[in-house]
Amino acid sequence: MSWQELEHKYFMQIVERLPVTLVKGQGARVWDEDGREYLDFVGGWACDSLGHCHPVVVEAVTAQAQTLIQVSNQFYTIPQIRLAELLVQHSCLDKVFFCNSGAEANEGAVKLARRYGKHYLNGAYEIITTTDSFHGRTLAMVAATGQTKFQQPYLPLPVGFVNVEYSNVDAIKAATTSQTCAVMLEPLQGEGGVNLPSDNYLTAVRRWCDQKGILLILDEIQTGVGRIGTLFAYEQYGIEPDIMTLAKGLAGGIPIGAILAKDKADVFALGEHGSTFGGNPVACAAGYATLKFIIDNDVAGNARRVGQYLVSGLEKLKQKFQFITDVRGRGLLLAVGFSSDIAQSVVMACLDRGLLVNRLKPNALRFMPPLIIGNREVDEALGILDKALSTIS
Ligand SMILES: Cc1ncc(COP(=O)(O)O)c(C=O)c1O
Repeated sequence: MSWQELEHKYFMQIVERLPVTLVKGQGARVWDEDGREYLDFVGGWACDSLGHCHPVVVEAVTAQAQTLIQVSNQFYTIPQIRLAELLVQHSCLDKVFFCNSGAEANEGAVKLARRYGKHYLNGAYEIITTTDSFHGRTLAMVAATGQTKFQQPYLPLPVGFVNVEYSNVDAIKAATTSQTCAVMLEPLQGEGGVNLPSDNYLTAVRRWCDQKGILLILDEIQTGVGRIGTLFAYEQYGIEPDIMTLAKGLAGGIPIGAILAKDKADVFALGEHGSTFGGNPVACAAGYATLKFIIDNDVAGNARRVGQYLVSGLEKLKQKFQFITDVRGRGLLLAVGFSSDIAQSVVMACLDRGLLVNRLKPNALRFMPPLIIGNREVDEALGILDKALSTIS
């Protein structure tokens, strides 16, 4: 039996996969079991910030795995302290807690906001989130996520979330009650469509939260760690969150999640939250090596410059192909929209020609390549995309 037949035999059929079994990666390239090479503009769903098997990640993981792999969080371990220090030194937040994924980081952020509500807001517990958001797959994060398709199969959902229209501060104002303890947002929506908010939205939301004494949680799981051209997205909007969540690209592809909070929102008491694997030495060593490399080499600046180059190439394709409706996003989190549902055909035509891209929606593609790519890889991807689009009538 082939690997793909074995997968069908043994695996729950939940993920809609492309018919390729990847066995190796290096930089922005991956290879399948038959030795075919692909340029990877999916990047492990925006996790491979430094590309595949970057030497600093490989060295950090190897050295840590030979030293100490896992101990209980009852003990101090050095990699998590070093990573926490680096995060605090390079962000506006003061304290860190590590977990294992994005959903878990958001879940913890929501618990933290509820603790804040109990301490300071007479037990307020509701969190306002937005339509087309994506915050993860746990039951509470499905409730937080403002997309009914993720919610419908699991009703009834946990209470305490109110979904309002994205990029509309008046909707947040109207939904705020004495029960509200926080607003939770993506600064730029990823899974929901690569949607940018209007210019003053985040400043207006920040002002509203300050006025009401409620917390602003920024979910930077997809936008953070250089992806949109600054180390964190909030820097581009001139605001600071009270709580921020990270995951995806933080450890160069090794699973990790992080909750960061300002001192005022650091309200968990001893034992009120926890994780067995959270802060695992190998994951944190990978995180430290990845983040240090990103900071020392201005990888975010590279994402900004190369992203602009990719945008200009995509704009040229838009001139050529009338069915491209728009090019959107920032840094290396970009999307193109189509006038009809052709995204899957384009994905398959790219795959045939050695380029991996993500079908964001039936009528949109998303690009989230490693942040270390250069213009050469962009030219190559645009060339393949051009050919793939030419096959679509
Ligand atoms: C903005 C955002 N939040 C949360 C998540 C969930 O992260 P994870 O899949 O690691 O649980 C994602 C994943 O795509 C995301 O993009």
